[in-house]
Amino acid sequence: MSARPIGIFDSGVGGLSILKAIKQQLPDENLLYFADSQYAPYGELDETILKQRCLFIADFFIQKNAKAMVIACNTATALMAEWLRAEYDIPIIAIEPAIKPAAQITRTNAIGVFATQHTLNSERYNSLLERFAKDKTVYQSACEGFVEQVEKGELNSLKTIALIEQYLLPMLDNNIDTLVLGCTHYPFLSDAIQSVAGQHPLTIVDNANAVSLQATRVLTELGLSNLKPHESDEFFSSSNSQSLQEVFSKLLLNNTHVNYIAD
Ligand code: DGL
Repeated sequence: MSARPIGIFDSGVGGLSILKAIKQQLPDENLLYFADSQYAPYGELDETILKQRCLFIADFFIQKNAKAMVIACNTATALMAEWLRAEYDIPIIAIEPAIKPAAQITRTNAIGVFATQHTLNSERYNSLLERFAKDKTVYQSACEGFVEQVEKGELNSLKTIALIEQYLLPMLDNNIDTLVLGCTHYPFLSDAIQSVAGQHPLTIVDNANAVSLQATRVLTELGLSNLKPHESDEFFSSSNSQSLQEVFSKLLLNNTHVNYIAD
């Protein structure tokens, strides 16, 4: 049983969608969150640099005595999860696009997937398609610009809506009824996506709850759950911009202090 924290990371604020689900599922756990904002977006980052960043963040969590780590980023999972698991002794919980539930939900047998280019290119993602969506038509899009809009806290601006229209409308024309948000930034755009879909029936799926359930299972199995009341959560970023504090507070609906960590 352990009051040690769980480290959660993403390229930026996107992983806060996972942190929220974990907080709901595991309210007593103490959390560390690292937003690698200086290096966002990861979706187009050189793989060698991405590896160095994952190493830097994992080492930081180990220094902070983390008992487990959550990769709250589909891109880092797709490229680095196996490597991180081989490098570190603590349990590592990862995320992948919700292809399996989407394939079960769709009635039109046409699914849309929004994810980063690295995720869409990855073996891990393509194996998900092969295993669970072979008999479905899948329309996928690397939604360039989405991550930047969420990083700026622009969840519903004219530019954000125009970007969503650009990627979503062609998929709706192809009769998708289910959309997978395969990047942890995108759930913050769910309301705007639904508003663009309008009357077109669209079920949006992501894996935030699946990740928090997996974290619960892993901690329980390893006897690592915190049985004491929650003490604190701490937030860190590789960027020291003032606007970041505001975006964190906006997405978490509270006043969040973000500590700057230089690399
Ligand atoms: N939020 C991340 C993901 O789930 C990374 C997005 C990015 O930085 O490109 O893929």
